[in-house]
Formats: sequence, structure tokens, C-alpha cells
Amino acid sequence: MRIVVLVSGTGSNLQAVIDAVEAGSLPLEIAAVGADRPGTLGVERSAAAGLETFVVNFKDYATRGDWDAALLETVAAYKPDYVVSSGFMRIVAPSFIDAFEGRYVNTHPALLPSFPGAHGVRDAMTYGVKVTGCTVHFADAGVDTGPIIAQTPVAILPNDTEETLHERIKVAERELLIEVLNDLARA
Ligand code: GRF
Repeated sequence: MRIVVLVSGTGSNLQAVIDAVEAGSLPLEIAAVGADRPGTLGVERSAAAGLETFVVNFKDYATRGDWDAALLETVAAYKPDYVVSSGFMRIVAPSFIDAFEGRYVNTHPALLPSFPGAHGVRDAMTYGVKVTGCTVHFADAGVDTGPIIAQTPVAILPNDTEETLHERIKVAERELLIEVLNDLARA
């Protein structure tokens, strides 16, 4: 099974996938890792691991549509079975979803449909829920919407900050993502 992983930031979830593949516990090939901006640690980690990488820099394109088309063309060229968004902070175009419907896997640090969007951890704390968590789902053209594959609950502790909670959620998120990818690879 071949995957392309899309990141925008540190790529700690991606690193867990790389480690699992290298350890032989995740039977898939990471065909490439890409980002929407230059200089991400996620792409740097991947290059250091000898993986193919690409950047479709949002700022290089005159229009959103041009960027959408470039991203789709770049990802499709790797012929992935699945595309995995892990900390990728762009909402892809409907044309991307059409091309990868049911094959675009996203991770989110909240229990969707609660608290979608870029600040799911902060929004859960602000609301005052006692339990939040993480979700792995097939993304559709919405913001963190689409069929849910798996979820893990994570309790919010009295002295949590957004950072401490997000780091604890990410531990669960990495395990969940690897579990889901294992199931997909063995299906
Ligand atoms: C993850 O919690 C992901 O779900 C969210 O942003 C975080 C990315 O973390 N969208 P990292 O880049 O994998 O460290």
C-alpha cells in the first residue's frame, strides 16, 4: 500500500508513521511527504529519513485554484492508495476529494463532530468539556468532516494548558493513526 503524507508543521504524527514503517510494524510505503509551505520540520524529518518530499508552496500561486490544481497533480503523480493529512492546515478543493474520495485520511485532535477547525484543542478547553480526544476520518470537502474511522478519548486535566493537552492528545493520535493505517494496509 502506497501513501502520500501531507503536513504543515512539526510532523510528529508523521514521524511515528515513519518509525513504524522502519520498524517493520506498518506494511506500507511512504511514497512521498509534502507540505504547503517551505521549511516545515515535517518535510525536513522526511528528507532525513531518505523519503521523497515536495512543497507546493501556497504563496507561489496566483490563485487558490492554481494551488489546488498543482497540489492534486503533484500528489496524483505518486499514485498513492491513500493520502494522509497529518497536521496539514489547508482545506483541499472538491477536485482533490473527487480524486481521492474515501482515500483521504485526516487526523484531528478532538472528538469530531465536536470542535472542528484549526483550534480543536483550545475550543474543547474553552467550552469546558471534561473529555476530548482525537479522530481519524475519511475527509470530504468540508472542514474536518467525513466518515469517522476511529476515535480515542483523552481526559482534560484540571491543570492542563492547551500545549500539555495537545501533546497528550498527539500520543493517542499517533497510536490511532498507525492502527488505522495498519487496518487499511491489511484490508
Ligand atoms: C495534530 O494534532 C493534528 O491532528 C493537528 O495538528 C497536529 C499536528 O501535529 N491538525 P504534528 O505536526 O503531527 O506534530
